[in-house]
Amino acid sequence: MEYQAKELFAKHGVTTTLGIVVTTAEEARAAAEELGFCVVKAQVKAGGRGKAGGVKLAKTPDEAFEHASAILGMEIKGLRVNRVLITPATPPQEEYYFSFLLDRANRRYLCIASVEGGVEIEEVAKTNPDAVKQIPINPGTGVDAEKAREIATEAKFPEPVFEQAVTMIEALYRVFTEEDATLVEVNPLARLEGDKLEALDGKVSLDDNASEVRHPDHEQFVIKDETDPLEAKAKEKGLNYVKLDGQVGIIGNGAGLVMSTLDVVAYAGEKHGGVRPANFLDIGGGANAQVMADGLDVILNDHQVKSVFVNVFGGITACDEVANGIRGALEILGDEASKPLVVRLDGNNVAEGRRILDELNHPLVTQVPTMDGAADKAAELANN
Ligand SMILES: Nc1ncnc2c1ncn2[C@@H]1O[C@H](COP(=O)(O)OP(=O)(O)O)[C@@H](O)[C@H]1O
Ligand SMILES: [Mg+2]
Repeated sequence: MEYQAKELFAKHGVTTTLGIVVTTAEEARAAAEELGFCVVKAQVKAGGRGKAGGVKLAKTPDEAFEHASAILGMEIKGLRVNRVLITPATPPQEEYYFSFLLDRANRRYLCIASVEGGVEIEEVAKTNPDAVKQIPINPGTGVDAEKAREIATEAKFPEPVFEQAVTMIEALYRVFTEEDATLVEVNPLARLEGDKLEALDGKVSLDDNASEVRHPDHEQFVIKDETDPLEAKAKEKGLNYVKLDGQVGIIGNGAGLVMSTLDVVAYAGEKHGGVRPANFLDIGGGANAQVMADGLDVILNDHQVKSVFVNVFGGITACDEVANGIRGALEILGDEASKPLVVRLDGNNVAEGRRILDELNHPLVTQVPTMDGAADKAAELANN
């Protein structure tokens, strides 16, 4: 979130103002009494808050109270606003855009900079692509003073703020590399009265892969009440789960198989009222009863889910083990298992796996031998 990004900015010497984070309109009033003329800013993990009415100037503490009342509880891009940042109002004279990000396709970093910031950069890129500079960064050599100067020149930062921009670029690069970020974005990087450059907004994505070993301190940025409860539960159980917006729950073994399953279900769903996959869930190699039960438990608690597609290709874990896992999971879950399951087993020891499920003859379980057929069946059941 913005206020957290600004904490990281401050830590690495990027000029910014921290402000005060509050969760009630009363606290917003108190913060405004302290700060004077201020701005009330919705804190959600999405851009375009200003456009959505989530950023408002307040001249008086009463105005801050009113704005905070309106903004707290509103939804921006499907995300509920639970906290607002109160920060001094410093009207920008000019707004610039600046970011560092991971350029996976080209195996390097990329800097994107534009002196036409403020609005969504995607829009500027469409209407005036020349105004958005893309500068590749070699991760081996990184950004030193000389490279920062080159970037500032290419981006055309105006002379009165040029030197500050160079300093800022070096500091932002420290945030990017030292924090193991995949994105560091400032929009607007604002030119304030008196030609002062300041990060008025901030967005940072941290690489989860770095958090356990290299950055245990990043744990402090996890906001419990902002995490999807199903994703939190899955994480607790060590499952690789991502909630999506559809109706067909998905369980598979292996990330690649699960990704293709999402595609196949979305495709099949077109014929069945437009149903879509409800999640990504890779139960990996050990598809035993407990893992299967944990996975089903998370998926069945998603109220949008109408049917579940279990798509397993037996490899090291053979199909009979998976079938036993499904049987065990249904026993563990009992009445909690309340939605139809479509199971497609193939691969190692498939005949025995299918036999176990046939013998089980569970009213909720339908076996379909092919992936396309099973996707079609699961989509059909979800649409009924
Ligand atoms: N402290 C501030 N003082 C004055 N104006 C601000 C301040 N912070 C943001 N703004 C204005 O509000 C706009 C939107 O705020 P921003 O933090 O960029 O949110 P978002 O990008 O989500 O819309 C900014 O482009 C800027 O013009
Ligand atoms: Mg912004």
